[in-house]
Amino acid sequence: MAESQAAKRLVVLVSGSGTNLQALLDTVAATGTEAYGAEIVAVGADRDGIEGLARAERAGLPTFVCRVKDHGTRAEWDAALAGAVAAYEPDLVVSAGFMKIVGKEFLALFGGRFVNTHPALLPSFPGAHGVRDALAYGARVTGCTVHFVDDGVDTGPIIAQGVVEIRDEDDESALHERIKEVERRLLVDVVGRLARNGYRIEGRKVVIQ
Ligand code: GAR
Repeated sequence: MAESQAAKRLVVLVSGSGTNLQALLDTVAATGTEAYGAEIVAVGADRDGIEGLARAERAGLPTFVCRVKDHGTRAEWDAALAGAVAAYEPDLVVSAGFMKIVGKEFLALFGGRFVNTHPALLPSFPGAHGVRDALAYGARVTGCTVHFVDDGVDTGPIIAQGVVEIRDEDDESALHERIKEVERRLLVDVVGRLARNGYRIEGRKVVIQ
């Protein structure tokens, strides 16, 4: 019998409500780490007092907070974040609503294994207001993009995308909720496939084996 592969170690980074994190937690709990191919070993944040951290604590996971304002420079914050994540020896790091751009040190350690989910169809509407910007532009469809992080803002190789129609009556919050329904399923599916199958990045193309 083939030796079963160990579950991949995930560190998840959050800044807010953490519903994408919850989808990962629920799937790992329901499927089992071996069948899903990954386990969440820690959850980190750039701020205290958020529901994302509370979700991790309720799941019995270790958490850490690394705040920009506690560091003299942005580079020092980046190095501290990289160190805090590295302490959990992750195979993959997932930015699930983590609203900070990481720097050189973080990418030196985790480039090629740092996955982000963004609430728009990249390369359209990158940045912190992907939902608002698509609405304001008058786009008729938008969605979500799961991609590897590179040194740009939402510019890294795309792994998967989900499409959501924009309705005439949509405001930012209603549209974001519908995007997040698609996004949670997409993120859970992508992370599981990356973990179970392995992958390679060829230029802008991500090939899941
Ligand atoms: C998600 O829609 C994610 O794409 C977005 O924050 C939301 C987090 O939701 N991230 C960004 O906008 C990053 N630029 P959650 O906290 O409920 O998982």
